[in-house]
Amino acid sequence: MANPLYNIPGSSLPPSTAVAGGPSSAAPTVGASTSSVAQSPSAEATDSPAMTHAEAAPRTVAGVLAQSQVESVMDELDRDLIGLAPVKTRIRDISALLVIDRLRAQLGLAAQAPSLHMCFTGNPGTGKTTVALRMAQILHRLGYVRKGHVVSVTRDDLVGQYIGHTAPKTKEILKKAMGGVLFIDEAYYLYRPENERDYGQEAIEILLQVMENNRDDLVVILAGYKDRMDTFFQSNPGMSSRIAHHLEFPDYATDELLQIADRMLKTTHYQFGAEAREAFDAYLQRRITQPHFANARSVRNALDRARLRQASRLYVDRDRELSADDLSTIEPADILASRVFRQS
Ligand SMILES: Nc1ncnc2c1ncn2[C@@H]1O[C@H](COP(=O)(O)OP(=O)(O)OP(=O)(O)O)[C@@H](O)[C@H]1O
Ligand SMILES: [Mg+2]
Repeated sequence: MANPLYNIPGSSLPPSTAVAGGPSSAAPTVGASTSSVAQSPSAEATDSPAMTHAEAAPRTVAGVLAQSQVESVMDELDRDLIGLAPVKTRIRDISALLVIDRLRAQLGLAAQAPSLHMCFTGNPGTGKTTVALRMAQILHRLGYVRKGHVVSVTRDDLVGQYIGHTAPKTKEILKKAMGGVLFIDEAYYLYRPENERDYGQEAIEILLQVMENNRDDLVVILAGYKDRMDTFFQSNPGMSSRIAHHLEFPDYATDELLQIADRMLKTTHYQFGAEAREAFDAYLQRRITQPHFANARSVRNALDRARLRQASRLYVDRDRELSADDLSTIEPADILASRVFRQS
């Protein structure tokens, strides 16, 4: 029998634990020691599964799709995110499984809630947090979680410094995440084998219990580098056996990074001027070989700096009347001034 202490029924939670997140499409910031709560783009903070509003239970795949409106989320995912073909395929597969599971349940064929805990592996900036937000939305629309919010945490949010501090911390986070997705970034830091009495183990044990007992209302996504995650699973077979879906996020190719840059500029009402895209391509070719390259995140940072340089360039021309074009165009000079071009 499970320790009732670890049982955190969602129904006993105050509705205020659903914290609405920032603007749509913005990924939550994963602080080093502060957890963040983000509402999936356009997900309503309702306390009931989207699917249970049904008057008549659909009997066809099309019926479930129409009622849950889950297809629009998947279409958005396809459209908004560049590349990631294997990830997108896996998400479609998982969605198909859930839709069929719904239809089975309606005919009394259901066994138990499907295990939906996942592991997202990949290098920094490959879209793990972004996809977790969409995943939460899909799970919510299909009625697998009540709220569809994502609580993003790292080790420091779960593990205390002193004896007796870890259990309350972990339970507090679990309470916040109930009804949605708990996203644990760099999950392997929970386990520190070099430290014999590390409190991380305590957090892992609580997580394991809740992942089993509350699987119908909480989905845990572990994220991090592939090799470290593999080592973590080897030492924590209990965790490994509870993760049903492993999604690998590949590094982006340069042309994908360029498309990501186009997309990011467009959503912020900027564009590359003549030859600026070529300059950015040259920038990426160099940046990609340097340390701490972080895929789409590095693209975002590079564009932020290009915007700063553009602003400085326009700023010095005090008396020039600036057109919308002037104000939204990134010129080659804004990119070529990067220190990436100064280092050989
Ligand atoms: N395929 C993509 N298409 C468009 N934008 C993307 C894509 N992948 C990531 N981005 C953007 O890049 C930024 C970083 O993505 P995200 O935070 O999801 O990556 P991550 O894998 O969680 O990174 P980290 O490991 O650093 O936390 C975000 O602003 C996101 O919108
Ligand atoms: Mg992230």
